[in-house]
Amino acid sequence: MTDRYAVIGNPVAHSKSPFIHAEFAGQTGQDLVYEQILAPLEGFATAVDNFRAEGGLGLNVTLPFKLEAFALADECSARALDAQAVNTLKFEGASVYGDNTDGIGLVRDIQVNLAFPIEGRDVLLMGAGGAAQGALGMLLDAKPARLVVANRTPQKAEQLVERLRRARGMGTALFSASGYAELAGQEFDLIVNSTSASLNNAVPELPDGVFARECLAYDMMYGKGLTPFLEKALTLGAARLADGIGMLVEQAAESFFIWRGVRPQTGPVIAAFKAR
Ligand code: ATR
Repeated sequence: MTDRYAVIGNPVAHSKSPFIHAEFAGQTGQDLVYEQILAPLEGFATAVDNFRAEGGLGLNVTLPFKLEAFALADECSARALDAQAVNTLKFEGASVYGDNTDGIGLVRDIQVNLAFPIEGRDVLLMGAGGAAQGALGMLLDAKPARLVVANRTPQKAEQLVERLRRARGMGTALFSASGYAELAGQEFDLIVNSTSASLNNAVPELPDGVFARECLAYDMMYGKGLTPFLEKALTLGAARLADGIGMLVEQAAESFFIWRGVRPQTGPVIAAFKAR
């Protein structure tokens, strides 16, 4: 019987994961199918149980179920614990293993695909919602000189930072929270936008001088062309711009590796998206 995997979410019809995993399976010769499951908002755990009962071996979890998936897993990776959220479930006998590949997907896209080493750089992460929560631990692991999390509601950034700072015994000089206005007079080498502002054609109110001369401006959003954030970055002198398509493909590749023990090539799949 062909091995079954799926992405589960609500909504889920827009998901690019079935295309990406079909490409990976074809490329690596793995015998699997990858479906999509629309779970009712109140019916995540039941939908997971049903899929397992039918022999499903693993799930990618997307909005709004990543926190529920974390609660549902019997055992979690360190990076899922950092994120307190799970985007990858693997079913092994009676047990459910949870992992989070969003952060490694982001960091691999930046460091490998975009050849931008994070170590020693000043990094700004914009936003303190679910997307930021998923990425923060891996950004810290990449050893930036300084990491600032800025948010419209600064208290949310403070909460997010405080939890990880305590877990890692870090000081505020290396890792801190901020509002946007307080960033005036500071410069960053890498600025990652994890906010959902672009969905409303908006951009957080960043002071003009934040983009250092060789700055990489990275928007986790994809498929929207030049987002308002990337447009602003371009106007204010960022040297390089990137959207989140590479992160999307890299997080999928890491899930594929967790399930199958085989690492697919991401380059051709990223190129296929860019050509579209
Ligand atoms: P996600 O799971 O995609 O991260 P979320 O948890 O709803 O979504 O978080 C959305 C993030 O985008 C938050 O950081 C939010 O800021 P607030 O915490 O202050 O609400 C941010 N955001 C959304 N629209 C924004 C805007 N127009 N300007 C600035 N930040 C915005």
